[in-house]
Amino acid sequence: MSAVATDAFIEALPKLELHIHLEGSIPLSRIQAEAEEHGIAPPRPYDTLFVTEDLTEFLETLDWICNLFQSPEQLERLAHDFAVYCRDQGMLYCEVIVNPTHWGNFDLDTLLPTLSDAFEAASDICDIRILPSILRTQSGEEALTLVNWIGEAHARGLAPRVIGLSVDGNEQVSGPTGERFAPAYQRAAELGLGLTSHAGESSGAEGVQDALDWLKVDRLDHGVRAIENPALVLRLAAEGVTLNVCVSSNCVRLYSGPDTHPFPALLEAGVPVTVNTDDPVVLNTTLIDELKWLVEHYQLTPRQLLALQRTAVNATFCGEQDKAALHEALDQAEAALA
Ligand code: HPA
Ligand code: ZN
Repeated sequence: MSAVATDAFIEALPKLELHIHLEGSIPLSRIQAEAEEHGIAPPRPYDTLFVTEDLTEFLETLDWICNLFQSPEQLERLAHDFAVYCRDQGMLYCEVIVNPTHWGNFDLDTLLPTLSDAFEAASDICDIRILPSILRTQSGEEALTLVNWIGEAHARGLAPRVIGLSVDGNEQVSGPTGERFAPAYQRAAELGLGLTSHAGESSGAEGVQDALDWLKVDRLDHGVRAIENPALVLRLAAEGVTLNVCVSSNCVRLYSGPDTHPFPALLEAGVPVTVNTDDPVVLNTTLIDELKWLVEHYQLTPRQLLALQRTAVNATFCGEQDKAALHEALDQAEAALA
């Protein structure tokens, strides 16, 4: 059990992913097929579609991709294909971030119930839940509209796979948004939604603090720049706030590589961390690739990889019963190792 994990172990390991954007997970072949069918030219050649100047241009590219989707049937197919991708990665469970602002052809009444129903239909492939995301540059009122929509939909029995809330987008453009989104997050908490937010990536440690203090998040997407403030690292560990870390994504936008990424330091400090891809198609990675990268560079053992999956189970926004079932599946994987 103390040897470094093998590729075979990583591939067979039951996995969870909690930080993956639907918009960054649409296969390039699918994007190209949809564009060609509708006679729409790409903003740049397909082989460099994701080679963008900055985060703003990247987000515009996501808008372009999502606007290729015009009918509920296209969304249903997308959701099904996403579930197959998750299963092929050995995922038991996934929480996928969906930002409605990218999907210009759908109102909330269509987008979220269609995706929720499609993931329900694909639940025997993989258990997938949805975290709608506020765009960082939206107003507090727009954020509250999204949260109130979720409350009203749930009251009508719609979109049951929507179980949490995030904020994504560009923190450098928007500045701190904690105060602006605090009323929406308070309402989301009252509705029993799980609370996460991007922070500590395009913002520094102050962005993490902002999300903790104003949004009262249960966990954070990225959060890695908390490492720049030792007191904050202690706080994350003490309060058990999980960071949904994406090493490849961080090594494109933030760090030079494994020697400078704070993953081992966060783990060592007792901060709960999970392993995620963020935008697998954009970054040309998969969850299995991310785990292999971690094992290669930080010599993780099977027991450590199992512990990372346990951390993810504990950080999910599904109910206690579903968490217990996920832990049980991990128990079986652990027993097989012993
Ligand atoms: N940031 C990074 N990746 C993303 C985002 C974002 O705001 N939205 C979709 N993929
Ligand atoms: Zn993200």
